Amino acid sequence: MMSTLLDVQNLWVRFPTRNGVFDAVRGVSFTLGRERLGIVGESGSGKSMTGRAILRLIRPPGIVEADQVNLEGQDLMKLSEKDMRSVRGQRISMVMQDPKFSLNPVMTIGDQIIEAYRLHNSASKADAYNKSLEMLEAVSIRDAERVMRAYPHEMSGGMGQRIMIAMMLIPNPEILIADEPTSALDVSVQRQVLDIMDKLVKERGMGLIFISHDLNLVADFCDRVLIMYSGRIVEVCDADKLHEAKHPYTRGLLNSLPRLDAPRDRLEVLERDPQWSEAPSVSGSE
Ligand SMILES: Nc1ncnc2c1ncn2[C@@H]1O[C@H](COP(=O)(O)OP(=O)(O)OP(=O)(O)O)[C@@H](O)[C@H]1O
Ligand SMILES: [Mg+2]
Repeated sequence: MMSTLLDVQNLWVRFPTRNGVFDAVRGVSFTLGRERLGIVGESGSGKSMTGRAILRLIRPPGIVEADQVNLEGQDLMKLSEKDMRSVRGQRISMVMQDPKFSLNPVMTIGDQIIEAYRLHNSASKADAYNKSLEMLEAVSIRDAERVMRAYPHEMSGGMGQRIMIAMMLIPNPEILIADEPTSALDVSVQRQVLDIMDKLVKERGMGLIFISHDLNLVADFCDRVLIMYSGRIVEVCDADKLHEAKHPYTRGLLNSLPRLDAPRDRLEVLERDPQWSEAPSVSGSE
């Protein structure tokens, strides 16, 4: 594989509950190169928690443990909270699943983007304003000037997603973790946003972790895919081989996709085998 940007070994996310500890992520290991790495799996399988745990963004009482989360020779698990803050949003950016919660509700979109821009680049307010307009246009927002003056609650879900993507790309991160970044977008805008991310991977060598429940999209867009079930990685495969995946859970996910070309009276229900969640986690490194 190409040069490794991130090496995650034995990552756990645990939540203490009244009935004992709930492990949302259970010993996940994988590597990320300058590639588009997809993470798929049913709702609740631990995709978002895996992304957030890399940035140590799990809210207490949740805890993150790992043998290592190595970012180009530096173990993020060993960094102080202060050093971690300089990793977040600069070296590794994350587009959260619900972008509305990531924007400040009482600040205009424009002020937020300008602030983010000036945090990372020395620029006058006017230059930062122009740059912000450019970034919004780059994510296919047409009336960027109006959007700059608007507040987050005035934005549709799809606009919120694109604004977050624009903001996350300002610092030119080495790694972007995108959690369902295009789920609220219609197909043509989705394509444009995917193209932007694709370009960053190909031209700047960014590493992309692309979290999605859309197997067809991931098969089409990504290079490799991790399939998660119940907090574990049950299968790793090349994205173009996803449809030939072997694991019964992955096969189940594929078979439960609705198909326009072969409609069925009813969709298949996923069968589950308790053994799948016991199987040792597979390492993504080849
Ligand atoms: N604060 C919390 N306390 C206890 N359990 C939690 C907490 N936050 C998340 N979980 C659990 O962790 C598990 C993994 O959640 P996660 O958000 O990673 O799922 P996901 O794969 O991203 O699902 P989706 O496709 O719905 O976004 C879920 O079972 C969820 O209920
Ligand atoms: Mg999620």
